Amino acid sequence: MNTITFNFEEKNKQPITLNCPKGETILEIALQHDLGLHHNCGGVCACSTCHVYINSGMEVLEEITDKEEDFIDRAKSPKLNSRLACQCLLLSENKSVSVTIPDQSVLLGD
Ligand code: FES
Repeated sequence: MNTITFNFEEKNKQPITLNCPKGETILEIALQHDLGLHHNCGGVCACSTCHVYINSGMEVLEEITDKEEDFIDRAKSPKLNSRLACQCLLLSENKSVSVTIPDQSVLLGD
Protein backbone atom coordinates (compact mmCIF):
# COMPACT_ATOMS: atom_id res chain seq x y z
CA MET A 1 0.00 0.00 0.00
CA ASN A 2 0.99 3.57 -0.63
CA THR A 3 0.21 6.46 1.64
CA ILE A 4 -1.37 9.48 0.01
CA THR A 5 -2.00 12.70 1.83
CA PHE A 6 -4.48 15.09 0.26
CA ASN A 7 -4.22 18.75 1.24
CA PHE A 8 -6.75 21.34 0.21
CA GLU A 9 -6.44 24.98 -0.75
CA GLU A 10 -9.94 25.52 0.62
CA LYS A 11 -9.54 26.70 4.19
CA ASN A 12 -12.45 24.71 5.62
CA LYS A 13 -11.05 21.32 4.54
CA GLN A 14 -8.56 19.38 6.67
CA PRO A 15 -5.80 17.20 5.16
CA ILE A 16 -6.62 13.51 4.85
CA THR A 17 -4.22 10.57 4.58
CA LEU A 18 -5.27 7.37 2.79
CA ASN A 19 -3.73 3.97 2.02
CA CYS A 20 -3.93 3.12 -1.68
CA PRO A 21 -2.59 0.26 -3.81
CA LYS A 22 -0.62 0.80 -7.00
CA GLY A 23 -2.58 0.70 -10.23
CA GLU A 24 -5.01 3.47 -9.35
CA THR A 25 -4.87 7.11 -10.35
CA ILE A 26 -5.01 10.02 -7.95
CA LEU A 27 -8.32 11.03 -9.53
CA GLU A 28 -9.81 7.56 -8.89
CA ILE A 29 -8.65 7.66 -5.28
CA ALA A 30 -10.03 11.18 -4.77
CA LEU A 31 -13.41 10.20 -6.21
CA GLN A 32 -13.62 6.96 -4.20
CA HIS A 33 -13.28 9.04 -1.05
CA ASP A 34 -15.57 11.90 -2.11
CA LEU A 35 -12.80 14.47 -1.95
CA GLY A 36 -14.42 16.67 -4.57
CA LEU A 37 -12.16 17.01 -7.58
CA HIS A 38 -13.46 18.22 -10.93
CA HIS A 39 -13.01 15.83 -13.85
CA ASN A 40 -14.99 17.25 -16.74
CA CYS A 41 -13.63 14.96 -19.46
CA GLY A 42 -14.08 11.82 -17.38
CA GLY A 43 -10.38 11.17 -16.90
CA VAL A 44 -9.10 10.87 -20.46
CA CYS A 45 -6.60 13.79 -20.50
CA ALA A 46 -8.87 16.05 -22.50
CA CYS A 47 -9.42 18.92 -20.05
CA SER A 48 -7.53 20.54 -17.17
CA THR A 49 -10.14 20.43 -14.44
CA CYS A 50 -8.45 17.60 -12.49
CA HIS A 51 -5.36 19.77 -12.01
CA VAL A 52 -3.48 19.10 -8.74
CA TYR A 53 -0.09 19.89 -7.25
CA ILE A 54 2.26 17.04 -6.29
CA ASN A 55 4.15 18.21 -3.20
CA SER A 56 6.22 15.03 -2.93
CA GLY A 57 6.33 11.57 -4.44
CA MET A 58 6.38 12.56 -8.11
CA GLU A 59 8.68 9.57 -8.75
CA VAL A 60 5.91 7.18 -7.69
CA LEU A 61 3.67 8.38 -10.54
CA GLU A 62 3.58 7.56 -14.22
CA GLU A 63 5.64 10.10 -16.17
CA ILE A 64 4.03 13.20 -17.58
CA THR A 65 3.29 13.20 -21.33
CA ASP A 66 3.38 16.07 -23.83
CA LYS A 67 -0.42 15.92 -24.07
CA GLU A 68 -0.79 16.27 -20.30
CA GLU A 69 1.63 19.21 -20.29
CA ASP A 70 -0.44 20.93 -22.97
CA PHE A 71 -3.58 20.67 -20.85
CA ILE A 72 -1.79 21.73 -17.67
CA ASP A 73 -0.89 24.97 -19.47
CA ARG A 74 -4.64 25.70 -19.65
CA ALA A 75 -5.19 25.18 -15.92
CA LYS A 76 -5.42 28.05 -13.46
CA SER A 77 -2.08 28.79 -11.74
CA PRO A 78 0.01 25.92 -13.12
CA LYS A 79 3.34 25.33 -11.35
CA LEU A 80 6.35 23.10 -11.88
CA ASN A 81 4.74 20.41 -9.72
CA SER A 82 1.37 20.53 -11.52
CA ARG A 83 -0.18 17.31 -12.79
CA LEU A 84 -3.53 16.12 -14.01
CA ALA A 85 -4.85 13.73 -11.38
CA CYS A 86 -6.38 11.36 -13.94
CA GLN A 87 -2.93 10.79 -15.45
CA CYS A 88 -1.17 10.17 -12.13
CA LEU A 89 -1.12 6.39 -12.02
CA LEU A 90 0.54 4.96 -8.93
CA LEU A 91 3.34 2.69 -10.14
CA SER A 92 4.98 1.62 -6.88
CA GLU A 93 4.09 0.14 -3.51
CA ASN A 94 5.03 1.33 -0.03
CA LYS A 95 5.67 4.92 -1.07
CA SER A 96 4.28 8.26 0.07
CA VAL A 97 2.69 10.94 -2.07
CA SER A 98 1.51 14.37 -0.99
CA VAL A 99 -1.06 16.14 -3.15
CA THR A 100 -2.71 19.54 -2.92
CA ILE A 101 -6.13 19.93 -4.50
CA PRO A 102 -6.73 23.49 -5.73
CA ASP A 103 -9.82 25.41 -4.67
CA GLN A 104 -12.68 23.55 -6.35
CA SER A 105 -15.20 26.34 -5.81
CA VAL A 106 -13.97 27.96 -9.01
CA LEU A 107 -13.63 26.28 -12.37
CA LEU A 108 -9.94 25.82 -12.95
CA GLY A 109 -9.75 25.46 -16.69
CA ASP A 110 -11.51 23.79 -19.56
S1 FES B 1 -10.37 14.66 -15.95
FE1 FES B 1 -10.00 15.71 -17.80
S2 FES B 1 -7.86 15.70 -17.91
FE2 FES B 1 -8.23 14.66 -16.07
